[in-house]
Amino acid sequence: MFRCFNLLLLLVCLVYHSGNTSKPVSGEKRGNVILPCQYEDSNIGHIDLFSEVEKIDVCETEECSGRVFKEGNCDVVIKNLIFSDAGKYTLRIYYNNDQTELKYQLHIHDEISVKTGEELKMSVLVSDADKVKTNSSGEWKEVWTRDHGVQSDRMNDDDDGNLIIKSFLDSDAGTYRVLDTEGETLITVTVTESPEKLDDTEQQRNWIVSVVVCLVILAVIVIVISVFIWRRQHRDHTQVQENTENTQELEKL
Ligand SMILES: *[C@@H]1O[C@H](CO)[C@@H](O)[C@H](O)[C@H]1NC(C)=O
Repeated sequence: MFRCFNLLLLLVCLVYHSGNTSKPVSGEKRGNVILPCQYEDSNIGHIDLFSEVEKIDVCETEECSGRVFKEGNCDVVIKNLIFSDAGKYTLRIYYNNDQTELKYQLHIHDEISVKTGEELKMSVLVSDADKVKTNSSGEWKEVWTRDHGVQSDRMNDDDDGNLIIKSFLDSDAGTYRVLDTEGETLITVTVTESPEKLDDTEQQRNWIVSVVVCLVILAVIVIVISVFIWRRQHRDHTQVQENTENTQELEKL
């Protein structure tokens, strides 16, 4: 009897759990993502999509002006992804006078390349964001929380949902993860240091300096060689003079 009850409890748990697990889907910022519904039933009459806070308009075809549209039987495509699209979605499917719900957890990822000394602005503090962690130091560390804001004086956050690194250092490069209150990853940003590129005036200045240095070296070499040749000729000349004087003296004898 007790075992039966345990089994029943386990079964209830399993059903409850599977009904609540969200299917993870991932898309690149500015890219598209599909929330797959995988229902083959052709009697699907209607679908509704909800985020955690509102019902979302789903266009019937891609030709609509909106970013969210239906594809095939009941798949939903979100195009031109932005960070604030990240989070939980519920797709309600109506068919044969019945309805079912599918849940999704949408994750957005992006890559950013920054020059040393530049300001880095990441618009990752979306409404569901609870924490931001980074492994730039080699281990995962919190750099921002909803309750306490930024954890470093090299960082800022603003009212538009930006996390700002005031002056980027190469040690800031790494992965930045934005987590919701349940610890699910909403956004992943991979930040790399972009190689220094000299601007045009700087390149011109460097070119002029190299030319001047070359000319100076060349001038020094020419002077040294000239002095060497002049001294050699001078010595030969005096030797020749000495020789003739010697022979003259010998002839006298
Ligand atoms: C951070 O984690 C990512 C994987 O999530 C890894 O590829 C990267 O090398 C790590 N960076 C550092 C600085 O540890």
